[in-house]
Amino acid sequence: MPAGVDNLERLEEEARREIAAVESLQALTEVRARYLGKKGSVAGVLRGIGDLAGDERARVGQLANTTKKRIEEAASERRHALERSDRDRALDAERLDTTLPGAEEPPAGRLHPVTRVFRDMVEFFTSMGFSIEEGPEVETEYHCFEALNIPEVHPARDEQDTFYVEGGNVLRTHTSNVQIRAMAGRTPPFRFIAPGRVYRHDLSPRHYPMFHQIEGFLVDEGVSFGDLKGVLYAFGRHLMEGEIDLRFRANHFPFTEPSAEMDYACLLCERQGCGVCSNSGWIEWGGCGMIHPQVLENCGIDSERYQGFAFGMGVDRTALLRYGIPEYSAALRRRPARVGAGLMRVSLQWLAEFIDLPKEADLVERLTLGGFEDVEVSSTGPDLSEVRVGLVRECGRHPNADRLSVCRVDLGSGELIEVVCGAPNVAADQKIAFAAVGTRLPDGTLLKRAKIRGVVSTGMICSDRELQLGDDHDGILVLDPDAPVGAPLPEVISTGDRELEVGITPNRGDVTSVIGLAREVRAHFGGDLRTPETDPLETGSPAADAIRVEIDATDDCHRYVARIVRGVRVGPSPDWVVAKLAASGIRSINNVVDVTNLVLLEFGQPLHAFDLAKLRGGCIKVRRATAGEKLVTLDGEARELCAEDLVIADSECAIALAGVMGGANSEVGDATTDILIESAHFHPSRVRVAAKRYGLKTEASYRFERGVDRLGVGRAADRAARLIAELAGGEVAAGRAVAEGAAPTVTEEIRFPTDRSNKLLGTALSKSEMAELLERVGVGCTAAEADVLVCSIPSHRTDLHLHQDLSEEVARIYGYDRIPVTEPVGVLRGVERPRLWRVAERARDALVAAGMIECQTLPFLNAEWVDALQLDPDDPRGNAVRLVNPIREEESLLRTTLLPSILRIVQQNRSRQVSRIEVFELGTPVPRGWGTLALGWETSHRSR
Ligand code: DAH
Repeated sequence: MPAGVDNLERLEEEARREIAAVESLQALTEVRARYLGKKGSVAGVLRGIGDLAGDERARVGQLANTTKKRIEEAASERRHALERSDRDRALDAERLDTTLPGAEEPPAGRLHPVTRVFRDMVEFFTSMGFSIEEGPEVETEYHCFEALNIPEVHPARDEQDTFYVEGGNVLRTHTSNVQIRAMAGRTPPFRFIAPGRVYRHDLSPRHYPMFHQIEGFLVDEGVSFGDLKGVLYAFGRHLMEGEIDLRFRANHFPFTEPSAEMDYACLLCERQGCGVCSNSGWIEWGGCGMIHPQVLENCGIDSERYQGFAFGMGVDRTALLRYGIPEYSAALRRRPARVGAGLMRVSLQWLAEFIDLPKEADLVERLTLGGFEDVEVSSTGPDLSEVRVGLVRECGRHPNADRLSVCRVDLGSGELIEVVCGAPNVAADQKIAFAAVGTRLPDGTLLKRAKIRGVVSTGMICSDRELQLGDDHDGILVLDPDAPVGAPLPEVISTGDRELEVGITPNRGDVTSVIGLAREVRAHFGGDLRTPETDPLETGSPAADAIRVEIDATDDCHRYVARIVRGVRVGPSPDWVVAKLAASGIRSINNVVDVTNLVLLEFGQPLHAFDLAKLRGGCIKVRRATAGEKLVTLDGEARELCAEDLVIADSECAIALAGVMGGANSEVGDATTDILIESAHFHPSRVRVAAKRYGLKTEASYRFERGVDRLGVGRAADRAARLIAELAGGEVAAGRAVAEGAAPTVTEEIRFPTDRSNKLLGTALSKSEMAELLERVGVGCTAAEADVLVCSIPSHRTDLHLHQDLSEEVARIYGYDRIPVTEPVGVLRGVERPRLWRVAERARDALVAAGMIECQTLPFLNAEWVDALQLDPDDPRGNAVRLVNPIREEESLLRTTLLPSILRIVQQNRSRQVSRIEVFELGTPVPRGWGTLALGWETSHRSR
């Protein structure tokens, strides 16, 4: 009996028993190895069959193999069974018993609306191959400003409303800082977006100091403005979930060239005008443009090879529009991307003396698209839109009063209105100005029904004076017989001047004058410029004999021109002068000073008039002040000057702070007879530094900072002398007394590669079309080699230096709206979200799922709240950085932990009897780096 066979049968039986008994996969594996493994029992039997006879050996061998197979099968069956029951157990554990009563309703958590909008934006941009970049909220001035071409001594800096942090940093005012951080030291192509919080120290109660922006930029070879439009259209469609109407307006950002602001058509009123769009039909969306070559160079990128676009926009408004959250309206009104404007106001009639004007609506539209902000035309006169043209049908004597008449007035409806009228000149068939009951008159009174000597009067026939159109009160205002009955009065007569108001970007010093605005009108609409006469009638002895002009500080003053007028009679100005100044917001002082202001408005050249008799030593010196030198400025303030200041002095002392304000010691007064008119060209930063230091923003400093026409200095002095002689009498001394300083650095000529310009803009304009567009803004063009125009820059355009600047001019006049929309090409790469970003997103989801509400609080801390945390003395959270200019002195620390702000929310909610407060915030305690998560919560008993 071959032992092997018995053995095998016994083995199989044992194996089956053991397999059936195991309860885990692990145990099964062990059993299986024991019987079937290389050193297992079956193998042992097989090893022993060598002693057996031939056919016996074969039989046992075969049996051993089948045994092996059968044990194998049994093991595998058992494995399946074990796996199945594991799964069932797991499922059993998870199965809900729907017969149980409902647990407490899950609490409703919520993401902050801005987070939701950010997520949506991120989703869109990552699908376009943009990856996320983050940058610090406490930022260096270099990254926030300088590297972006916003130097300290530049008017654009004013608009940034910056919070300064002790130690020289700032709270970032925009997300554009990320451009610098993300590009520096890397090689294009780049496609980045940077969502984040930004801060502006704006004290107006309508603005929240913290808001959100998203920045995006793409740099590669051959990226164009058309591509920028393409991306923004696609983005807009994604955000608004449908078609979108965008508008691109020329604008100025120091870090882009060309630059634009973009608006989207108001979705609420569909461009009809409503409260949300301030009746304009458009909602500002953000700023954008082609990244300035200097910014690329600042990041070490070859700006000849690469070009790219950037855009930045506020996010809070989108959140509001999406989710309709009224509490958010403070942030809503925050303008997203304003590198703001100075305002210029001017009488339209005055402007029309310089150039023929188009229809008002066209003027407003083109100036808006062409780079002015907040363009508006308004009436200066009283609002008489409720007063209407009436026809006196009947006019009879008042039954009880000799001097009164009773009239019946037709307003076009056929119904006759009975009024009592005291004017001697009223008569039947006259067209008159009629104020119905309920009309508010310009003096503020509300017209009521009245009984006059027993006759009821329902309305009033108005005189000039009642309408504040003049002083005539002898009788009523009789209108033209053709005036249409029922029409509002302003449609029939002129009820005051019309005023144009425009916001001017800080680069455009050349449009801070009537002539500048007229040139701009000409650029858009064509026409001939009419400039005022400047040559004075010279009768006196030469000015140069009476006064010597010397420039010591030659770098600060490029040219100084003096004119002398003797024998003037200082007195009030004529009405037309007062009115023109008033339209521009300048108060009339006397005929001499008024002329200097009038010419400042006409030409944009600031002037100053000195009382010649008060100047000592027969000289004017332009020099730096000595430290501690005193000057009482015209506003009555005694100022102590420093060696940085540029002054105008006579032989003894300072008589004016150059380019900013005159001194009291040389002021023109009623007794003045001889005057010296100053017209000069000072260095913009010299004026800016002084204006800033003394907090003196004047009409003069405003213009000098932005750049005045260096070739217009003499002409303005001439014009002023001429006008003074005209208005105040006196003799104009022959010629000008002049001194020259160092020549200013100016750009007189730019080589303009038309081909590159087309590539930058995404246009296909011919060389001659480009030349024509440039000539409309006064840039002279001559053709050089193929694809290059040699452009001569007019002296008033102090902002044009690079060929990119000229591309902006081309786009501005051609119209940004006509640039074709294209889509950027480039390598699409998969994008990965930064690790911290992903962690933060998961944390948000988890907390919201747990029923918590996400909030965002200001990062400012009160020292008392920090004390209340009772931190250890060496806890770094007790060591906060201070804001230099906090909104409120008590909250002048930057938070080192989010806890106090969260606790504040809890406290505020409790005091409003909210019983369940579960909130969290993800934020950045500063200055200790990114991504720290802080939770704050309180679960008092739930109210249900
Ligand atoms: N940084 C600008 C602001 O808030 C917004 C902006 C404008 C960003 C134009 C850009 C841009 O990238 O191209 O004030």
